[in-house]
Amino acid sequence: MRVLLIGSGGREHALAAALAADESVDALICAPGSPGMAALGECAQVNQNDPAAVASLAVTGAADLVVIGPEAPLVAGVADAVRAKGIPVYGPSREAARIEGSKAFAKEVMAAAGVPTAAARACRTREEAEAALDEFGAPYVVKDDGLAAGKGVVVTEDREAALAHALDCDRVVIEEYLDGPEVSLFVVSDGKSARAMLPAQDYKRVGEDGTGPNTGGMGAYTPLPWAPDDLVEEIMGKVAEPTLAEMASRGIPFVGTLYCGLALTAKGLKVVEFNARFGDPEIQPILALLETPLGELLHAAATGRLADFGPLWWREGAAVCVVIANEGYPIEPVKGRPVYGADEVGVLHAGTAIDASGQLVATGGRVLNCVGTGDSVAQARTEAYARAEGVKLEGSHYRRDIAAGI
Ligand code: AMP
Ligand code: GLY
Repeated sequence: MRVLLIGSGGREHALAAALAADESVDALICAPGSPGMAALGECAQVNQNDPAAVASLAVTGAADLVVIGPEAPLVAGVADAVRAKGIPVYGPSREAARIEGSKAFAKEVMAAAGVPTAAARACRTREEAEAALDEFGAPYVVKDDGLAAGKGVVVTEDREAALAHALDCDRVVIEEYLDGPEVSLFVVSDGKSARAMLPAQDYKRVGEDGTGPNTGGMGAYTPLPWAPDDLVEEIMGKVAEPTLAEMASRGIPFVGTLYCGLALTAKGLKVVEFNARFGDPEIQPILALLETPLGELLHAAATGRLADFGPLWWREGAAVCVVIANEGYPIEPVKGRPVYGADEVGVLHAGTAIDASGQLVATGGRVLNCVGTGDSVAQARTEAYARAEGVKLEGSHYRRDIAAGI
């Protein structure tokens, strides 16, 4: 089959590598792709958030399957435009992607489906925001209602900072603080049936020991040796299945990845957030362990045939991903500096380009992902950090405590 993969980040590089390794994938077109993805398939220029442009590329590229990596094209309705051409798409419709695009919508779906989550108030005025802050108390959790690439959330003990963020947002959701370890579970859905991937954990703050501002994610590992054996089953039963059933009953079946971001609190598991796509950087280590051919799995989901698809197969052992970020990330990344050591095994491109002189340069806030595997998380971690040490990018930084002590 011919697969068109939309996106250009580390998640898409990992997806491209797994798709290219699938024997049923004869051709891979990455749009817009990246210098790393260019080694795995053809790269095609496209505005990935333009539904008509992506649909026409899918037609001219004779794609049998379109896989949409990031959230912005989903929320823009790219999946709908491709589906309208009769081409199978892995990725939810614009309506279904609201589960990520609007925190208020996600809360409403969870309430209707009886899914445990933090109590929350959608606020529009200063008075409403102040009342919600005082109702829940510190630590305050203040979320921009729209898409913010994981950076629209402020968690703080400081009421003034919490209120300032609330006033900065057009619509804001203020919610109860959830304490306990966080887990990401990616559920592949065809709208009716679902398959869970391995659970993973990511590191959202820029600094070691969880200090500094939130980022899109600075590293991740899978599986979770400390988690209860029935964790995935519990998440499927209490969270994923009721949510997918609620979406289907509203006439907006969810086809794609339901990303369940959860906190394991003293009062049981609760949803922190849903996303409508694979998490980045968690999917990088997860795919390093996937044995099931990814193209076949995503094609089955895109064509409503997951019920007949067997269980997923995983390699024994563990995988760890360490993110190399540009100087200044996440506030104001310095871009355009040369990067060396990026074309090694286990190094994925998350934000790179080739400049006019042919030099590989850093363009994103998150530049590279270094993935290691091993029999244990500790072994995988050693390999990931060895890869990170081989990368040269002036001013770059990475967390030294990814998967430490696991
Ligand atoms: P979100 O964009 O909703 O995933 O939030 C980003 C990050 O903020 C989460 O991964 C958590 O680390 C933190 N966060 C979000 N909501 C809460 C909450 N209710 N309680 C504690 N931490 C939260
Ligand atoms: N790793 C967090 C995210 O993809 O949103």
